[in-house]
Amino acid sequence: MPPLGLGTWKLAKKESYAVIRDAIACGYRHFDCAPIYKNEAVIGEAISSAITAKEVRRQELWLTSKLWNNAHLPRHVRPALERTLKNLQTDYLDLFLIHWPVSFRQDIEHPKRAEHYLMPSEERLLETWSALEKLVRKGLIRKIGVCNYKRERLQRLLSSASIPPACLQVECHLWLQQRELLAYCLEHNITFTAYSPLGSGDSAESIRCLASRPASVASSTDNCRNLLAFPPLIRLAERCSCTPAQLLLAWGLSRNCTLIPKAASPLHCRENRAAMPLILPQEVIAELEGYDSNLRLISGEPFCRSLSPYTLEWLWGDEGW
Ligand SMILES: NC(=O)c1ccc[n+]([C@@H]2O[C@H](COP(=O)([O-])OP(=O)(O)OC[C@H]3O[C@@H](n4cnc5c(N)ncnc54)[C@H](OP(=O)(O)O)[C@@H]3O)[C@@H](O)[C@H]2O)c1
Repeated sequence: MPPLGLGTWKLAKKESYAVIRDAIACGYRHFDCAPIYKNEAVIGEAISSAITAKEVRRQELWLTSKLWNNAHLPRHVRPALERTLKNLQTDYLDLFLIHWPVSFRQDIEHPKRAEHYLMPSEERLLETWSALEKLVRKGLIRKIGVCNYKRERLQRLLSSASIPPACLQVECHLWLQQRELLAYCLEHNITFTAYSPLGSGDSAESIRCLASRPASVASSTDNCRNLLAFPPLIRLAERCSCTPAQLLLAWGLSRNCTLIPKAASPLHCRENRAAMPLILPQEVIAELEGYDSNLRLISGEPFCRSLSPYTLEWLWGDEGW
């Protein structure tokens, strides 16, 4: 998997075509997609036209997509994958991930009431995994993995899967460094993909749960709401003659994470790729490590509202939220 991919959450439909064509032109080969981002059809058009124009071959691309929470029942898995394949105009995915371990009724995209959820069930998640394994055997997916799994849930999956997960995709950045989970994945040959590596500054406050963060965390992040504006990060970036985003990405790559920053701006796209060769001094890395605050920005808290049977405790356990 190319270690730097392009995130596509929040790419508006009308901008997606130009962003993807430009990203391919400037060297991106890895795209992180999902049907719930509502832009896969436009991304598929952009990829297909770049292939037709001979700018890239399908075999050079790494396409990741995800199974949304309303398609966990085994009979719904293949139809969901087929919709994504059709939209992305491809006959296989490089990686297909379970998006969240939270299950909804098939007709519900965003639950608003308790009855829109299926009850939490580890067994159902294992059945979803078996359905994904069948699709690997049929050649429709090369690798399978999970997102937003705590270690205990990943361990359970590893011990029962016939095809082990190839990737864990979770939130990971300066304020949520995920040291134990990262070490566990590296030890078990699971690619660790860090989502929101720049702090997801463009996501809605209702999703980025900053309001509820404890006072101790707020003070350790200098009361800063946007990671890219965190004063110590700006100071260190100046010292390394790079931008704060580049510093975060170079640091993430040095930790053997795969990173999928989202960037709609062509300047940001190029700036982020230019971070790949940067080597950071050991004392800068040591200082960055000191800013871990166990601050989860995308906690899944919206799935735990309105009498939902899911809780933050069930999602993350002792990993904290
Ligand atoms: N599996 C999951 O549950 C899950 C959850 C969240 C995210 N993800 C994936 O991870 C991807 C990345 O996470 P994210 O979208 O939450 O946030 P992110 O990548 O941490 O941050 C995106 C923000 O950073 C800005 N940005 C990018 N490059 C920059 C640069 N060089 N300088 C300054 N600003 C820069 C972007 O601006 P512009 O867009 O204006 O350029 C955008 O506002 C998502 O798009 C999605 O593919 C997965």
